[in-house]
Amino acid sequence: MLICRPRRNRKSSAIRALVQETRLHPSDLIYPLFVIDGAGQREPIASMPGIYRLSLDLLLKEIGKAALLSIPAVALFPVIPKEKKDEEGSEAWNPKGILQQTIRAIKREFPEICVIADVALDPYTSHGHDGVVDERGEVMNDETIETLVRMALVQAEAGVDMVAPSDMMDGRVRAIRESLDDEGFHHVNIHAYTAKYASAFYGPFRDALSSKLKFGDKKTYQMNPANQREALLEAALDIEEGADIIMVKPALPYLDVIAKLREATPLPISAYQVSGEYAMLKAAEQNGWIDGPMALLESVMSIKRAGADMIFTYAAPQIAEWLQR
Ligand code: PBG
Repeated sequence: MLICRPRRNRKSSAIRALVQETRLHPSDLIYPLFVIDGAGQREPIASMPGIYRLSLDLLLKEIGKAALLSIPAVALFPVIPKEKKDEEGSEAWNPKGILQQTIRAIKREFPEICVIADVALDPYTSHGHDGVVDERGEVMNDETIETLVRMALVQAEAGVDMVAPSDMMDGRVRAIRESLDDEGFHHVNIHAYTAKYASAFYGPFRDALSSKLKFGDKKTYQMNPANQREALLEAALDIEEGADIIMVKPALPYLDVIAKLREATPLPISAYQVSGEYAMLKAAEQNGWIDGPMALLESVMSIKRAGADMIFTYAAPQIAEWLQR
């Protein structure tokens, strides 16, 4: 005789709802956005169907829509024209730069929206690396940190809620925390890209920002996809240095890392469903090979189930809309 029949708890949608362990809510979502110069600009990104580079006026409209869907946060990525890129990425700490203008405008129009900005040089450097490069093409750690600190400070002055160092230099969280505090920005959170892997899944993002590497790869700073324990080390350091939230990136290929970090720290954990994850789902959907909305919801649900408190996803408005139905 079968006594245990787990199927009993699956027999109706009412019972399935009662026993559901993980729930997604629009408030779990962070919406990454690409901002370009000008007005009335809406440039499609070929490798990211449904995602656009938006000028500030249209970006504000998009954020208005996201706010109505109860999405609490946006992450901003500026598209820097080639003429403004240089070896050091000096546009990154221009107080009047496009990112700083965008932060100010969002905080003016939507003060309740949490604005997150990346701290890394790659959108601004002519070579596409996240840091300052020496004559041999090495990305230099301590020199890079000086520029990251300048970047974080101009973002804080513009009113950013969270700075998100995404560069993977050693010691950057502490340096940014100390400088923010010295300048009176105690309230600005550090949302650290803690376990960021040297991943092939960032391809469409680099198309979106025209930040393809001119030489080399990012393996001397981003993590080896083969490593899990190393994520614990990165997390321990970021936490000790003052991170408020730690991130795993990409998300779906690294669910084990999310789960490990969940056990290791009480801090909030975020996960970034990156451009390549989004592109794969959309490509399969466009080919009629998978049920796009269901596959997207399933993958974001998996990321939450693994232990992420919040998820960066380009599909945030689509997901929030389906959840509201
Ligand atoms: C910048 C940065 C990258 C992403 C977010 N911040 C690219 C990279 O490190 O090469 C990727 C996001 C995505 O693919 O959606 N350091």
